[in-house]
Amino acid sequence: MDAIVVKGGAPLRGNVRISGAKNAALPILCATLLSDGASLLRNVPMLRDIDTTAALLRFLGRGVHVNAPEVTVTAGSDVRPEAPYELVKQMRASVLVLGPLLARFGRAKVSLPGGCAIGARPIDQHLKGLEAMGAKIRLDRGYVIAEGPAGGRLKGVEIVFDLPTVTGTENLMMAAALAKGTTTLVNSAREPEVEELGRILNKMGCDVTGAGTDVIQIVGRDPGSLEPFDHAIIPDRIEAGTYMAAAAVTGGDVTIEGAEMHDLEALVVKMRQAGIEVTAEGEKIRVRRTGDLRGVNVTTAPHPGFPTDMQAQFLVMMSLVRGESVITETIFENRFMHVPELSRMGANVALRGKTAVVEGVDKLYGASVMATDLRASASLVIAGLVAEGETEVRRVYHLDRGYERIEEKLSKLGATISRVKGAES
Ligand code: EPU
Repeated sequence: MDAIVVKGGAPLRGNVRISGAKNAALPILCATLLSDGASLLRNVPMLRDIDTTAALLRFLGRGVHVNAPEVTVTAGSDVRPEAPYELVKQMRASVLVLGPLLARFGRAKVSLPGGCAIGARPIDQHLKGLEAMGAKIRLDRGYVIAEGPAGGRLKGVEIVFDLPTVTGTENLMMAAALAKGTTTLVNSAREPEVEELGRILNKMGCDVTGAGTDVIQIVGRDPGSLEPFDHAIIPDRIEAGTYMAAAAVTGGDVTIEGAEMHDLEALVVKMRQAGIEVTAEGEKIRVRRTGDLRGVNVTTAPHPGFPTDMQAQFLVMMSLVRGESVITETIFENRFMHVPELSRMGANVALRGKTAVVEGVDKLYGASVMATDLRASASLVIAGLVAEGETEVRRVYHLDRGYERIEEKLSKLGATISRVKGAES
């Protein structure tokens, strides 16, 4: 397995261009199942999760042609509406084919994703919503077997989510796109990636209103009537936030290109409170730190709150402030896996259930570390950028799921970073 080796100490300086959003590209690739013809996605990040989705679409019978950063998906003659365990276990977001397959082909067999490193992550909200639309759902030997109502299409209904779920909202939006009548999704996730899926469904000929708010309305269209699309994916706000954190932690001056400040508001507010200068001009965000960092408290929340996907990176920043800060994780129950690794690098963090109490230290020290999820791995790379000496981040495949060309981008900003192929895992 590959490892990333980082030599700490250099403040990051310069410009970095942000790739397309992974978590927008994944549902959009799945939305291609709703139509025939050839859909063209532009600005697709070349990541392991995109490869997994392409493999899944091919398994289902679609043609997928990758010409980075573009991906074309074409309809084949046969469809096998089944997502096998081998693919779903590599990426939970594979469950996003459930809604479109069921709506388009009247049945779907999708492996249950199971738990993952950051929490149990059930999909009960996806399934309850599909059942309310008339689907019959049973679980059989680790698979969700879903069938449309006798004699036809899912029906439009009002669904109230127990809690906002990003992929749950997306799955039901895609199912509703071909349902008979209007579906209203109440207490929906408001993430920009959900809004982006709404844009795609409208491009395909649907009538979606309210995507990006907590009430989304989808007027279903006849199966076979949706058109393929041509679309450039929005920038990845979490990748942008990760480079912002790296710039701040190293005391650098970095301009993030192709980012949308509006989607990062909660992070920007907290960074400014921590003493970091953040300014925006057009699609550029400049992050500068000239003085000491101040401790601030952060609680993760669904969008537009502070993103759970930035919690680990922010925690690294807080480990170097003067004084104490309290970080509370409310979205996933096991998302502090980076803390024991950061402690090995000299961070002083006490975990109390959902809360991490971070006592700032003067310095972090390089070490061999390992993470079990994507954002935790990113936080360890950031820690390595500022640590004294060398840090080896193992199990880099987590990083490759979500950060396109991370070594190249960080090197251009002045970091000393390299990949060691086939390192010890
Ligand atoms: N939940 C349920 N039941 C459900 C669905 C969700 O109880 O049926 C719970 C989850 O267990 C969690 C909360 O609801 O406690 C929110 O989970 P959500 O469903 O919103 O998460 P997700 O859709 O599985 C997406 C992103 C994650 C990101 C979360 C939260 C994609 C492909 N993944 O996951 O991204 O952390 O939303 O914003 O969009 C990442 O990119 O590193 C990543 C993990």
